Amino acid sequence: MADRPAYYITTPIYYVNDVPHIGHMYTTLACDVLARFKRLDGFHVKFLTGTDEHGQKVDKAARLSGLDPQTFTDKVSENFRALARLMNFSNDDFIRTTEARHVHSCQALWQTLLANDQIYLGSYAGWYAVRDEAFYAEAELTTGPGGDKLAPSGAPVEWVEEPSYFFRLSQWQEPLLRLYADNPEFVLPRSRLNEVVSFVRGGLQDLSISRTTFQWGIPVPDDPAHVMYVWLDALTNYITAIGYPEVNTEDFQTFWPADVHMVGKDILRFHAVYWPAFLMAAGLAPPKRVFAHGWWTVEGQKMSKSLGNAIDPLHLIETYGRDQVRYVMLREVPFGNDGDFSHESVVGRINGELANDFGNLVQRVLSMVAKNCGGTVPTPGPQTGEDAELLTACNGLLPAVRDAMDRQAFHEALDAIWAVIRAANGYVDRQAPWALRKSDPDRMRTVLYVLMEAIRHLGILTQPFVPEAAGRILDQLAVGPDARSFAHLGDRHGLVAGTPVPAPTGVFPRHEVAAAAGEGTA
Ligand code: MSP
Repeated sequence: MADRPAYYITTPIYYVNDVPHIGHMYTTLACDVLARFKRLDGFHVKFLTGTDEHGQKVDKAARLSGLDPQTFTDKVSENFRALARLMNFSNDDFIRTTEARHVHSCQALWQTLLANDQIYLGSYAGWYAVRDEAFYAEAELTTGPGGDKLAPSGAPVEWVEEPSYFFRLSQWQEPLLRLYADNPEFVLPRSRLNEVVSFVRGGLQDLSISRTTFQWGIPVPDDPAHVMYVWLDALTNYITAIGYPEVNTEDFQTFWPADVHMVGKDILRFHAVYWPAFLMAAGLAPPKRVFAHGWWTVEGQKMSKSLGNAIDPLHLIETYGRDQVRYVMLREVPFGNDGDFSHESVVGRINGELANDFGNLVQRVLSMVAKNCGGTVPTPGPQTGEDAELLTACNGLLPAVRDAMDRQAFHEALDAIWAVIRAANGYVDRQAPWALRKSDPDRMRTVLYVLMEAIRHLGILTQPFVPEAAGRILDQLAVGPDARSFAHLGDRHGLVAGTPVPAPTGVFPRHEVAAAAGEGTA
C-alpha cells in the first residue's frame, strides 16, 4: 500500500431522525464519484460515511416514535445503509456514533483536550436550536411571523440554562485565521471561505460542549451527569474510523489529515471552525479541505418532510435508473451552487446527453463494427489529421478531468468529457463510415478503430460517474477488468486489432416522458 498515495474522503454522518432523501444522497454521491475517480487514478482510498445517532434531536425523534433511542437508531441507521447499497456506493466503512469504538475515541479526545487545558466547567445560559443542534447568540436571531425567535436557518430556538463544560474556542481565533491564510483552498468554493473568515474575524466565544438536560449522548469522562455536545461527538467520527486514539498506526498515519470532508453549506461552520480548533487543541493536524456544496430545492420549493416534497431516492432510481440519477445530479448544477430539481430537466438530460450524445455514439459505432468488421476490433491503417485530432482530444482528457476533480468541480469534469463525446459524434458524421464500406473499406476500418479507441477512453473516464453503464461499454469493447484504470488510457494500451467483441446492446435508453410526469415525490 505504501507505494500508492493515500486519499481520505468523508461524508457528513447523517442524523437518524429522518428517512434519507436526495439531499442526503447527494453528499454521499459526490464522495462516491470522487472515491471511485481516485481509486482509478491509482490512489489508496478510504471513503467513510455513517450515521450521527446521539443528541437531543434524535432523542426527541425516538420518543415520538415510541421507541427507546437505541432501538430507534438501529432501525433508522439501517435506512442509510440501505441507501448506500441501493446507490452502490463504494464506501469502505460505515460508522455509527453509538459504536463502542466511537465512544472510546470521543472520551479519549475529551481527556486529551482536558489534559491540554482546553476544557473547563462553567454554566451555559443562552439559545439553542434542537433542529440545528447549535447554540446561537441573541444577535444572530430573528423574529418569526408568530413572534417566536428563530435561528438564521429558520429553526426555532429555546432558552437553555444548565451546567456545561466549555471548550476554549476563543483561544483559536489567530491559529484558525492563519490556517485559512496559509491554505486558501482549505474551504472550497472560495466564496465560502470568505464567510468562514469573516465569522472568525468577528471573534470567537468559548463553546459549550456538554449537556445535562437529557442523557442520550456519550458520557463525559468522570462526570456522567454530562453528555458530550453532539457536534463534538459527531465530528470525532472522522478520526475514530482510522483508529483514534491510536495515532501511531499505519491507518492513522496513512489517512490523517483527511483530504476532503464533503459537507452541505449548512454545516460548514462546524467543519471549518470548530473541528480544526478541536484538532489543533488536541495536537492533531486539521483536515486538508472542507468542501461545502449547495442545497437542492424541488421544482422551486425547499425540500422538506412537512411539505411532502422530499424526493425518495428509491423512487427516483426506479423511475430513471441509477446511473442516470448519478449523472444528472452532478451535471445539473456547478458543484457548490444550489440547484433546483425538476423532472423535466432530468428527462431532458437523460434523453439529450446520455441517450443521444453518449448512447448513440456507442451504439452506432459498435453496430457498424458488428456488421462490417466481423464483430472484431478492426485493423487501422494510416491516420489522417482528423483521426489524430480526436485521439489527441481523448489523450488530453485525463489531465483536464483530474484538475477539475481535484477542485471537486464535477460539472467541469463532465463538460470536458462531453466535449469529446460531441467531437466524436461530429467525427462520425463527417467521416460517414457507412458510406466508406463500399468505397474505401480500409479507411472505414481506420475510422471505426479510432472511434472504438475514443469510446474506450470515454468508457474508462466515465466509470466514476456512471459505473454500471461505463462497465457495460467496456464489456462491449472486450476491455478486461484489469485494463480499466486510468493507467490504461493512451495509445500504448490501445485496443488490439482482431480481438472479438460481443454483440452490442444499448446502454442509455431514452426515457419516455409520459411515464415520469408528476411522479417522483415521496
Ligand atoms: N449530523 C449532521 C452532520 C454531522 S457531520 C460530523 C447533519 N446531518 S444531516 O442529516 O442533517 O445532513 C447531512 C447532510 O445532508 C448535510 O451535508 C446537508 O447539507 C445535506 N443535505 C440535507 N438536505 C439537503 C438538501 N436539500 N440539499 C442538499 N444537501 C442537503 O447535518
